[in-house]
Amino acid sequence: MMSFDMAQPSVIDYLKQLQQQGVSHAEIDDEARGILREFYRRGAASPKARKSTPSSATAPSAAVTPPTETKISINGHSAAEKISSLKEQCLTWAPTKALRTLRDKMVFSTGNPEADLMLIGEAPGYHEEKKQEPFAGPAGEKLDQIVKAMGLSRDEIYISNVCKFRPATKNQTMGSRKPSPDEMAANLPFLRAEIDVVKPKVIIALGGTATEGLLEESKAVSQLRNAWHQFQGIPLRVTYHPSYLLRQSEGTSEKRMVWEDMLAAMEKLGLPVSEKQRRYFLPKE
Ligand code: URA
Repeated sequence: MMSFDMAQPSVIDYLKQLQQQGVSHAEIDDEARGILREFYRRGAASPKARKSTPSSATAPSAAVTPPTETKISINGHSAAEKISSLKEQCLTWAPTKALRTLRDKMVFSTGNPEADLMLIGEAPGYHEEKKQEPFAGPAGEKLDQIVKAMGLSRDEIYISNVCKFRPATKNQTMGSRKPSPDEMAANLPFLRAEIDVVKPKVIIALGGTATEGLLEESKAVSQLRNAWHQFQGIPLRVTYHPSYLLRQSEGTSEKRMVWEDMLAAMEKLGLPVSEKQRRYFLPKE
Protein backbone atom coordinates (compact mmCIF):
# COMPACT_ATOMS: atom_id res chain seq x y z
CA MET A 1 0.00 0.00 0.00
CA MET A 2 1.42 3.37 -1.03
CA SER A 3 1.69 6.15 1.58
CA PHE A 4 -0.91 8.92 1.43
CA ASP A 5 1.67 11.65 0.72
CA MET A 6 3.20 9.74 -2.18
CA ALA A 7 -0.07 8.73 -3.74
CA GLN A 8 -2.45 11.62 -3.22
CA PRO A 9 -1.13 14.25 -5.68
CA SER A 10 -1.48 11.97 -8.69
CA VAL A 11 -4.98 10.76 -7.83
CA ILE A 12 -6.27 14.20 -6.85
CA ASP A 13 -4.65 15.86 -9.87
CA TYR A 14 -6.07 13.27 -12.20
CA LEU A 15 -9.57 13.72 -10.79
CA LYS A 16 -9.23 17.49 -11.05
CA GLN A 17 -8.14 17.09 -14.64
CA LEU A 18 -11.25 14.98 -15.37
CA GLN A 19 -13.42 17.56 -13.61
CA GLN A 20 -11.97 20.34 -15.78
CA GLN A 21 -12.94 18.26 -18.83
CA GLY A 22 -16.54 18.32 -17.60
CA VAL A 23 -16.52 14.77 -16.20
CA SER A 24 -18.60 14.58 -13.03
CA HIS A 25 -18.21 10.89 -12.07
CA ALA A 26 -15.37 8.36 -12.14
CA GLU A 27 -15.13 4.77 -10.97
CA ILE A 28 -12.44 4.44 -8.31
CA ASP A 29 -10.92 1.46 -6.53
CA ASP A 30 -10.57 1.03 -2.75
CA GLU A 31 -7.05 2.45 -2.66
CA ALA A 32 -8.08 5.61 -4.50
CA ARG A 33 -11.15 5.87 -2.25
CA GLY A 34 -8.87 5.69 0.82
CA ILE A 35 -6.68 8.46 -0.61
CA LEU A 36 -9.70 10.69 -1.20
CA ARG A 37 -11.07 9.99 2.27
CA GLU A 38 -7.71 11.04 3.78
CA PHE A 39 -7.58 14.09 1.50
CA TYR A 40 -10.95 15.26 2.83
CA ARG A 41 -10.05 14.34 6.41
CA ARG A 42 -6.96 16.54 6.25
CA GLY A 43 -9.10 19.48 5.18
CA ALA A 44 -7.57 19.67 1.71
CA ALA A 45 -11.06 19.96 0.30
CA SER A 46 -11.83 23.29 1.97
CA PRO A 47 -13.60 25.69 -0.42
CA LYS A 48 -10.28 27.48 -1.02
CA ALA A 49 -8.38 24.29 -1.73
CA ARG A 50 -11.17 23.04 -4.00
CA LYS A 51 -10.72 26.05 -6.25
CA SER A 52 -6.99 25.52 -6.76
CA THR A 53 -5.94 24.07 -10.10
CA PRO A 54 -3.42 21.27 -10.43
CA SER A 55 0.13 22.26 -11.27
CA SER A 56 0.72 19.00 -13.02
CA ALA A 57 -1.50 16.34 -14.52
CA THR A 58 -0.07 12.91 -14.06
CA ALA A 59 -1.62 9.48 -14.45
CA PRO A 60 -3.19 8.09 -11.28
CA SER A 61 -1.13 5.73 -9.16
CA ALA A 62 -4.25 4.04 -7.77
CA ALA A 63 -6.83 2.86 -10.27
CA VAL A 64 -9.25 5.53 -11.42
CA THR A 65 -11.13 4.12 -14.39
CA PRO A 66 -11.88 6.82 -16.96
CA PRO A 67 -15.64 6.85 -17.40
CA THR A 68 -16.96 5.92 -20.82
CA GLU A 69 -19.92 8.27 -21.22
CA THR A 70 -20.43 11.20 -18.90
CA LYS A 71 -21.79 14.02 -21.00
CA ILE A 72 -25.50 14.49 -21.47
CA SER A 73 -26.74 16.11 -24.65
CA ILE A 74 -30.28 17.36 -25.00
CA ASN A 75 -31.34 16.38 -28.52
CA GLY A 76 -34.60 16.99 -30.40
CA HIS A 77 -36.91 19.91 -31.13
CA SER A 78 -39.98 19.50 -28.94
CA ALA A 79 -39.83 19.06 -25.18
CA ALA A 80 -41.17 15.50 -25.63
CA GLU A 81 -38.34 14.65 -28.07
CA LYS A 82 -35.79 16.11 -25.70
CA ILE A 83 -37.11 14.04 -22.78
CA SER A 84 -36.96 10.93 -25.01
CA SER A 85 -33.34 11.66 -25.83
CA LEU A 86 -32.54 11.99 -22.12
CA LYS A 87 -34.28 8.67 -21.41
CA GLU A 88 -32.18 6.94 -24.03
CA GLN A 89 -28.92 8.27 -22.61
CA CYS A 90 -29.93 7.47 -19.03
CA LEU A 91 -30.22 3.76 -19.89
CA THR A 92 -26.48 3.41 -20.41
CA TRP A 93 -25.21 6.25 -18.20
CA ALA A 94 -21.78 5.14 -17.04
CA PRO A 95 -21.74 6.76 -13.54
CA THR A 96 -24.95 4.90 -12.65
CA LYS A 97 -23.77 1.60 -14.11
CA ALA A 98 -20.42 1.94 -12.33
CA LEU A 99 -22.13 1.87 -8.94
CA ARG A 100 -23.53 -1.64 -9.55
CA THR A 101 -26.04 -1.06 -6.74
CA LEU A 102 -29.07 -0.24 -8.85
CA ARG A 103 -31.32 -2.57 -10.81
CA ASP A 104 -31.31 -2.53 -14.61
CA LYS A 105 -34.86 -1.51 -15.47
CA MET A 106 -35.15 2.23 -15.83
CA VAL A 107 -38.16 4.24 -14.66
CA PHE A 108 -37.70 7.72 -16.04
CA SER A 109 -40.66 10.08 -15.73
CA THR A 110 -44.30 10.57 -16.62
CA GLY A 111 -46.60 13.41 -17.54
CA ASN A 112 -46.47 16.60 -19.55
CA PRO A 113 -42.93 17.61 -20.60
CA GLU A 114 -44.11 21.23 -20.73
CA ALA A 115 -45.85 21.24 -17.35
CA ASP A 116 -45.78 24.20 -14.98
CA LEU A 117 -45.63 21.88 -11.98
CA MET A 118 -42.95 19.23 -11.47
CA LEU A 119 -43.15 16.71 -8.62
CA ILE A 120 -39.99 14.86 -7.66
CA GLY A 121 -39.73 11.68 -5.60
CA GLU A 122 -36.72 9.62 -4.55
CA ALA A 123 -36.59 6.40 -6.62
CA PRO A 124 -38.87 3.77 -8.13
CA GLY A 125 -39.92 0.75 -6.13
CA TYR A 126 -41.48 -2.60 -7.03
CA HIS A 127 -44.71 -1.22 -8.54
CA GLU A 128 -42.96 1.52 -10.48
CA GLU A 129 -40.43 -0.91 -11.93
CA LYS A 130 -43.24 -3.23 -13.01
CA LYS A 131 -45.23 -0.46 -14.70
CA GLN A 132 -42.13 1.56 -15.67
CA GLU A 133 -43.80 4.69 -14.39
CA PRO A 134 -43.02 6.79 -11.29
CA PHE A 135 -45.49 6.59 -8.41
CA ALA A 136 -47.43 3.59 -9.69
CA GLY A 137 -48.16 1.85 -6.35
CA PRO A 138 -49.99 2.87 -3.16
CA ALA A 139 -47.88 6.03 -2.76
CA GLY A 140 -48.86 6.91 -6.33
CA GLU A 141 -52.55 6.50 -5.51
CA LYS A 142 -52.13 8.90 -2.61
CA LEU A 143 -50.28 11.31 -4.88
CA ASP A 144 -53.08 11.11 -7.46
CA GLN A 145 -55.60 12.06 -4.76
CA ILE A 146 -53.52 15.09 -3.84
CA VAL A 147 -53.12 16.14 -7.48
CA LYS A 148 -56.87 15.70 -8.07
CA ALA A 149 -57.65 17.82 -5.00
CA MET A 150 -55.54 20.55 -6.63
CA GLY A 151 -57.85 20.39 -9.65
CA LEU A 152 -55.11 18.80 -11.79
CA SER A 153 -54.40 15.42 -13.35
CA ARG A 154 -51.25 13.37 -13.91
CA ASP A 155 -51.27 14.35 -17.59
CA GLU A 156 -51.04 18.05 -16.74
CA ILE A 157 -48.01 17.81 -14.49
CA TYR A 158 -44.57 16.22 -14.79
CA ILE A 159 -43.54 13.54 -12.27
CA SER A 160 -40.00 12.28 -11.91
CA ASN A 161 -37.56 10.82 -9.41
CA VAL A 162 -34.03 11.81 -8.41
CA CYS A 163 -32.89 8.23 -8.98
CA LYS A 164 -34.13 6.52 -12.15
CA PHE A 165 -33.49 2.90 -11.14
CA ARG A 166 -34.81 0.84 -8.26
CA PRO A 167 -32.13 0.49 -5.57
CA ALA A 168 -31.10 -3.17 -5.39
CA THR A 169 -31.11 -5.27 -2.23
CA LYS A 170 -30.10 -8.85 -1.52
CA ASN A 171 -32.76 -11.45 -2.39
CA GLN A 172 -35.05 -8.64 -3.47
CA THR A 173 -38.76 -9.32 -3.86
CA MET A 174 -41.18 -6.45 -3.28
CA GLY A 175 -39.11 -4.54 -0.75
CA SER A 176 -37.48 -1.21 -1.40
CA ARG A 177 -34.67 0.74 0.07
CA LYS A 178 -33.93 4.44 -0.13
CA PRO A 179 -31.43 5.50 -2.77
CA SER A 180 -28.04 6.40 -1.28
CA PRO A 181 -26.51 9.87 -1.74
CA ASP A 182 -24.09 8.34 -4.32
CA GLU A 183 -26.97 6.78 -6.25
CA MET A 184 -28.86 10.05 -6.31
CA ALA A 185 -25.76 12.05 -7.27
CA ALA A 186 -25.07 9.69 -10.19
CA ASN A 187 -28.61 10.22 -11.54
CA LEU A 188 -28.97 13.91 -10.72
CA PRO A 189 -27.56 15.21 -14.04
CA PHE A 190 -30.66 13.76 -15.73
CA LEU A 191 -33.06 15.45 -13.38
CA ARG A 192 -31.21 18.71 -13.91
CA ALA A 193 -31.50 18.24 -17.68
CA GLU A 194 -35.22 17.39 -17.34
CA ILE A 195 -35.74 20.65 -15.45
CA ASP A 196 -33.91 22.52 -18.23
CA VAL A 197 -36.29 20.97 -20.77
CA VAL A 198 -39.60 21.15 -18.87
CA LYS A 199 -38.91 24.59 -17.34
CA PRO A 200 -41.52 24.17 -14.62
CA LYS A 201 -42.68 27.23 -12.71
CA VAL A 202 -42.77 25.29 -9.44
CA ILE A 203 -41.01 22.15 -8.20
CA ILE A 204 -42.23 20.10 -5.25
CA ALA A 205 -39.74 17.74 -3.60
CA LEU A 206 -41.60 14.79 -2.09
CA GLY A 207 -39.99 13.64 1.14
CA GLY A 208 -36.68 13.96 2.91
CA THR A 209 -34.65 11.67 0.64
CA ALA A 210 -35.58 13.49 -2.58
CA THR A 211 -34.91 16.79 -0.83
CA GLU A 212 -31.49 15.59 0.28
CA GLY A 213 -30.68 14.48 -3.25
CA LEU A 214 -31.74 17.82 -4.69
CA LEU A 215 -30.67 20.37 -2.13
CA GLU A 216 -27.91 18.35 -0.42
CA GLU A 217 -29.74 19.33 2.71
CA SER A 218 -30.12 16.75 5.45
CA LYS A 219 -32.53 18.75 7.64
CA ALA A 220 -35.91 17.18 8.35
CA VAL A 221 -38.86 17.91 6.09
CA SER A 222 -40.54 19.57 9.09
CA GLN A 223 -37.73 22.14 9.14
CA LEU A 224 -37.64 22.73 5.40
CA ARG A 225 -41.31 22.80 4.46
CA ASN A 226 -43.45 25.90 4.69
CA ALA A 227 -40.82 27.97 2.85
CA TRP A 228 -39.65 28.56 -0.69
CA HIS A 229 -36.28 27.21 -1.74
CA GLN A 230 -34.63 27.43 -5.16
CA PHE A 231 -33.36 24.71 -7.47
CA GLN A 232 -31.79 25.77 -10.74
CA GLY A 233 -33.46 29.14 -10.24
CA ILE A 234 -36.93 27.58 -9.89
CA PRO A 235 -39.03 27.97 -6.74
CA LEU A 236 -39.04 24.67 -4.87
CA ARG A 237 -41.31 23.57 -2.05
CA VAL A 238 -40.49 20.64 0.24
CA THR A 239 -43.26 18.45 1.57
CA TYR A 240 -43.83 15.02 3.10
CA HIS A 241 -43.68 11.93 0.91
CA PRO A 242 -47.10 10.42 0.06
CA SER A 243 -46.02 7.09 1.59
CA TYR A 244 -45.44 8.94 4.88
CA LEU A 245 -49.07 10.08 4.72
CA LEU A 246 -50.13 6.46 4.22
CA ARG A 247 -48.50 5.59 7.53
CA GLN A 248 -50.32 8.32 9.51
CA SER A 249 -53.51 7.56 11.37
CA GLU A 250 -56.74 9.43 10.62
CA GLY A 251 -57.07 12.86 12.14
CA THR A 252 -53.35 13.66 12.31
CA SER A 253 -52.13 17.00 11.02
CA GLU A 254 -49.68 15.78 8.34
CA LYS A 255 -52.35 15.70 5.60
CA ARG A 256 -53.14 19.34 6.26
CA MET A 257 -49.43 20.22 6.23
CA VAL A 258 -48.98 18.61 2.81
CA TRP A 259 -52.13 20.32 1.64
CA GLU A 260 -50.81 23.71 2.81
CA ASP A 261 -47.65 23.10 0.77
CA MET A 262 -49.83 22.31 -2.24
CA LEU A 263 -51.93 25.44 -1.67
CA ALA A 264 -48.73 27.49 -1.65
CA ALA A 265 -47.72 25.86 -4.96
CA MET A 266 -51.17 26.54 -6.45
CA GLU A 267 -50.94 30.18 -5.46
CA LYS A 268 -47.45 30.49 -6.94
CA LEU A 269 -48.77 28.94 -10.17
CA GLY A 270 -51.74 31.31 -10.25
CA LEU A 271 -54.21 28.41 -10.08
CA PRO A 272 -57.69 29.17 -8.70
CA VAL A 273 -58.18 28.15 -5.07
CA SER A 274 -61.77 27.85 -3.83
CA GLU A 275 -62.83 28.45 -0.23
CA LYS A 276 -63.66 24.74 0.01
CA GLN A 277 -60.12 23.83 -1.13
CA ARG A 278 -58.65 26.24 1.40
CA ARG A 279 -60.38 24.38 4.23
CA TYR A 280 -59.45 20.80 3.22
CA PHE A 281 -58.13 18.70 6.15
CA LEU A 282 -58.78 21.41 8.74
CA PRO A 283 -60.24 20.02 11.98
CA LYS A 284 -64.05 20.11 11.96
CA GLU A 285 -65.44 23.04 14.00
N1 URA B 1 -41.59 6.68 -4.13
C1 URA B 1 -40.89 7.58 -4.84
O1 URA B 1 -40.22 8.42 -4.28
N2 URA B 1 -40.96 7.51 -6.16
C2 URA B 1 -41.69 6.62 -6.82
O2 URA B 1 -41.70 6.65 -8.03
C3 URA B 1 -42.42 5.71 -6.04
C4 URA B 1 -42.37 5.75 -4.70
